[in-house]
Amino acid sequence: MYQSLGVGILGAGTIGGTLVRRLIDEHDIVQAKTGLDLEVRRVAVRSLDKPRPFTVPDGVLTDRPEDLVVDPAIDLVVEVMGGIEPAVRYVLAALESGKPVITANKELIAAEGRDLISAAERSGVPLLFEAAVGGGIPIIRPLTETLAGEPIGKVLGIVNGTTNYILSQMTESGRPYAEALAEAQELGYAEPDPTADVTGADAASKAAILASLAFGTWVPPTGVYREGIDRIAGEDIAYAADLGYVIKLLAVADRRPEGISVRVHPVMISAEHPLASIRGATNAIFIEGPSIEQLLFAGPGAGGEPTATAVLGDVIDAARELLAEAQVAPRIRFAPGALMDFGDVPTCWYIRLDVADRPGVLAQIAGAFGEAGVSLRSVWQEGRGDRATLLLVTHEAAERSQREAVEALRHLDTVHEVAAVVRVEGDEA
Ligand SMILES: NC(=O)c1ccc[n+]([C@@H]2O[C@H](COP(=O)([O-])OP(=O)(O)OC[C@H]3O[C@@H](n4cnc5c(N)ncnc54)[C@H](OP(=O)(O)O)[C@@H]3O)[C@@H](O)[C@H]2O)c1
Repeated sequence: MYQSLGVGILGAGTIGGTLVRRLIDEHDIVQAKTGLDLEVRRVAVRSLDKPRPFTVPDGVLTDRPEDLVVDPAIDLVVEVMGGIEPAVRYVLAALESGKPVITANKELIAAEGRDLISAAERSGVPLLFEAAVGGGIPIIRPLTETLAGEPIGKVLGIVNGTTNYILSQMTESGRPYAEALAEAQELGYAEPDPTADVTGADAASKAAILASLAFGTWVPPTGVYREGIDRIAGEDIAYAADLGYVIKLLAVADRRPEGISVRVHPVMISAEHPLASIRGATNAIFIEGPSIEQLLFAGPGAGGEPTATAVLGDVIDAARELLAEAQVAPRIRFAPGALMDFGDVPTCWYIRLDVADRPGVLAQIAGAFGEAGVSLRSVWQEGRGDRATLLLVTHEAAERSQREAVEALRHLDTVHEVAAVVRVEGDEA
C-alpha cells in the first residue's frame, strides 16, 4: 500500500459536499481498487455553521481557503467553490506550491485555463478538470488523451441540461417557453436566476474549453458567438418537426482551412441526428474526425453524484502521478490559430415570414436572397386569408450574407414581419 495522501477541498456545496462524503464513505472501496489511501484533511467553506452531508473531525472544516492551499499536510487540492475570483488565486497558489489541482469550474478554466495550465506545467503537476464540461460524462480525458492524435474537425454539444430540458418540454408537450422554464425551476433543473443557462453563457464557457482541447488552439470565452433560447417560439418547434428537424441549443465548434469557429445558439438539427434524441437534462457531445468518423458521448451533465464521480476520477489520476514521482508531461499545448469572424462562417437559416398572400411575393423574396448571394433550399407556404406564413430554409452561405438577406426582407412591403430565424445544422438534411 502507498502512503496516505492528504486531500484539501475548496467548497462543500452540491459537488464538494458529495465528494467529501464519498471520499469518506467509499475510502476502503477506492483503496481496494486503486491502492490509494486518500484522506480528507481540510475542507474550506464560507460558513462553518451550515449543515453538511458528512461528518469530519474537528479542525478539518475551515473558513480559511488561503491556508488550505499552502498547508504541507495537503498533497492534492480540489476546487469546487465556483466563480473566477477568488478561486483563481487559490488554484494558482496551490499549483505554485507544487500541489496538483482538480477543478469542476468551467468558468474558471474557460477564462483562465491557459495561464493555469502554464502554471501547472511550470510546477510539473497536473491540473485536471474532467467535471468542468459535461458533469459526469468523460470528455476531457478522451479529448486530451484518447483522441490526442486525431485531427478533430468538428464538435457539436448539448452542454447545458437546463436549456435541453426546457426545449425538450416545449417539443414533447407543446408548452410555451415561460411555462417550460417555470417547470424546470420547480423541479430544480433551472436556477432561480436562470440567466447564465438560458442566455447560453454557461454553454459558451464549455464550448470554449471543448474547442481549445479539440483543436489545440486556445479559444477564450469572448471568442464564442452566443445566442440564448428565450426567443424560441412554440410555433417554430412545431414547424421544425414538420420539416424533419428538432430545435436544440448547441455548442458548435469547427475547424476549416480559414480558421476555427466556435458558437452557441439554437439550432434546427435533423431529427435523424444522434443529438436529436438527447432529451431532458441529459448532455451529449458529438465529435467528428477523419479517422474516428463520429463519436457520441452522452450522460448526466450535472448533479452532485455524477459530477463527484468525475472529480474523484481526477483525484485518483492526480494521486497516481504524485506517487509515481515522475515529471508530469503536459496534457495539452496550445498552438496559435486563426479564429474566424462569425460573419464569414457558413451557416444555413430557417426563416419564418408573415407575408401578404398575393402574386409576386415569392419572386420579391427570392430576389432579396439572390441579391445577397444566398440560395433557397426549400420554401413552404401556409395560407391564412390575405396573410400567409412562409417558411424558408436556405443553403449554406456566409452568416453575413444570411443577415443581409433577412435585413432586405424587412424592407419589403409584402413582408409584414420576419417572425423567426433559427440556424440549421448541416446542409444535407
Ligand atoms: N452543481 C453541478 O451540478 C455542477 C456540475 C458540474 C460542474 N459544477 C461546478 O462545480 C463548482 C461547484 O458547484 P456547486 O454546485 O457545488 O456550488 P455550490 O453548491 O454553490 O457550492 C459552493 C461551495 O463553495 C463554498 N465557497 C464559495 N465561495 C467561497 C469562498 N470565497 N471561500 C470559501 N468557500 C467558498 C461554499 O461555502 P458555503 O457552503 O459555506 O456557502 C460552498 O460550500 C462550480 O464551479 C460549478 O460550475 C457544478
